[in-house]
Amino acid sequence: MLRSAILGTGLYVPENIVTNDDLAQLMETSDQWIRERSGIQERRWVTIGEDGYATQTGADMAVLASERAIEEAGIHKDDIDQIIFATVNPDVTFPGNGVFIEERLGLNTAGAMDIRNQCTGFVYALAAADGFIRSEVAKTVLVIGGEIHSTAMDQTTRGRDISVLFGDGAGAVIVQATDEDRGIITSVLHSQGRFAKDLWLEAPIATYPGRIDQQMIDDGRHFPHMNGKMVFKHATRRFCESINEVLEKGGYTIDDVDLLIPHQANQRITDAVGQRMGLSPERVFSNIAKYGNTTAATVPIAMAEAVAEGRLKRGDLVVTVAFGSGFTWGANLIRW
Ligand code: UT7
Repeated sequence: MLRSAILGTGLYVPENIVTNDDLAQLMETSDQWIRERSGIQERRWVTIGEDGYATQTGADMAVLASERAIEEAGIHKDDIDQIIFATVNPDVTFPGNGVFIEERLGLNTAGAMDIRNQCTGFVYALAAADGFIRSEVAKTVLVIGGEIHSTAMDQTTRGRDISVLFGDGAGAVIVQATDEDRGIITSVLHSQGRFAKDLWLEAPIATYPGRIDQQMIDDGRHFPHMNGKMVFKHATRRFCESINEVLEKGGYTIDDVDLLIPHQANQRITDAVGQRMGLSPERVFSNIAKYGNTTAATVPIAMAEAVAEGRLKRGDLVVTVAFGSGFTWGANLIRW
């Protein structure tokens, strides 16, 4: 039976480190508040150049992460026949970033698509890659999660509940068809659109001629808005449900899991999920202190770090789980 093995991982984060104290210079917040409420100590933000634009695009970061994943996988880039890029923030409204990555990597007309599923984007993208491989649509899929959040943040006190949480970065994996007994075992995917407005970014709006106006900008409708407590409550519950569901579907129990890689939304969510699932901290990956929430990029960045740190090894049973805007949530079960 054809399976989808993850052969290589890579990550890239911008060099510019933004500490909690740096943010306290921009808005009314404090290192203590951010650490206690989220576990975040610092995050990476792209640098803004003299021309007023970021010195790196989202595609630039994705390409750097992808090159590392290609090298670790030991494949040739021309083996890639499909790109799936998960993001909240493509560089332009259209086309998606997948095609910019195809061009920058110098691939010869490989398929390219973007998945706009916010914090759950990478989990959906891995499930899609697995489907493409098992149905023989593709043999080697480059799956990337990448975000430039910082340029869409309200960096004033008005936006402090959100802007202190998010960071920029990219993570990538190479998923390839194999006959071996390893790879993505199964996935579960869910959504509940009735909660869309509890975490969303409204403008530009397609139904409004011209899409955006000064009033919308003055009202901050071009910045993300979140009902934080509500998201927190749903996230904790859905993380646990998805872990149990994907394990049951795959025929395993929590005792079989070597490493849980949760979406990095809040250290308190990660701790609560670890405790409820009965997992010791060594079996739950966390790097939110360094990078904050990089949305679709948290899971692949964590995968790449876990491999580099020797915490993710061939044969391990891994669960990835995520929850985010939509609301959307889901999990992947993987034999590494
Ligand atoms: O990736 C998936 C999507 N995101 C998440 O999963 C995030 C889920 N939610 C959270 O992580 C938490 O709800 C937050 C970290 C966003 C907030 O933590 P909280 O414990 O729920 O705090 P809160 O929103 O209830 O705010 C408590 C107080 C408020 O002041 P008052 O009304 O009690 O006077 C806020 O105005 O903290 C204030 N506050 C801040 N103070 C300092 C909000 N943001 C800040 C800030 N610095 N950055």
